[in-house]
Amino acid sequence: MEVVITDHPELVVADAVAEAVTGGATTLGLATGSSPLPTYRELIRRHRDEGLSFAGVTAVLLDEYVGLPADHPESYTRFIHDNFTGHIDIGDVHLPDTMAADPRAAARDYDELIGRVGPVDVQILGIGSNGHIGFNEPSSSLTSRTRLKTLAHKTRMDNARFFDSLDDVPRHAITQGLGTITDARRLVLVATGEGKAAAIAAAVEGPLSASCPASILQWHAHATVVVDRAAAIKLR
Ligand code: F6R
Repeated sequence: MEVVITDHPELVVADAVAEAVTGGATTLGLATGSSPLPTYRELIRRHRDEGLSFAGVTAVLLDEYVGLPADHPESYTRFIHDNFTGHIDIGDVHLPDTMAADPRAAARDYDELIGRVGPVDVQILGIGSNGHIGFNEPSSSLTSRTRLKTLAHKTRMDNARFFDSLDDVPRHAITQGLGTITDARRLVLVATGEGKAAAIAAAVEGPLSASCPASILQWHAHATVVVDRAAAIKLR
């Protein structure tokens, strides 16, 4: 695992994506949330100003809340369109169908779809303050596939900032499993701010353990953790 401490994480992550795409990558794995936003802005800028093209690239999202229609302002479908994919020339953008009558079957279908369009060339990841990646909360199986998950209380509290109240934060999501995520050829996790420092220390320097799902990156053959100084403050 490579750890990069930098004042500009977004440039390091954007370089990894741009290098993959110009080198013929066909599948990108995208995260939502605050952490990748500066990277997405930088990639949109390179598309607009420097001709970086995503033509022929398919995107697969990590996760989606259950019970939020696609046009809900906080759905990840809407988030990724408004903040990234709607501004570039990327091809299909896939998410799990969390409005399906049978979300468990929809999760299995999504895992199969990722198998068909994958392997993912570069998977961008954020990290929860409890060490989750995707919505693989602590104690998730390290070999898990895409499935329905109950969100941890800590995760709902962290994400309440995007909703009117805690009660409005969905309780379930469909998330790629840790086994699904680690099928990607390259993992790039980005974290900024002191609020992520403990999770980063556990992921990078703690044991490989389901207690910190992000520690699975230690096991992957090509994983990079990109952090600013604040998120690196608890590394030894
Ligand atoms: C989002 C996702 C989550 C977030 C994590 C960090 O698709 O999979 O794991 O990456 O919760 O969220 P932010 O970046 O908002 O702190």
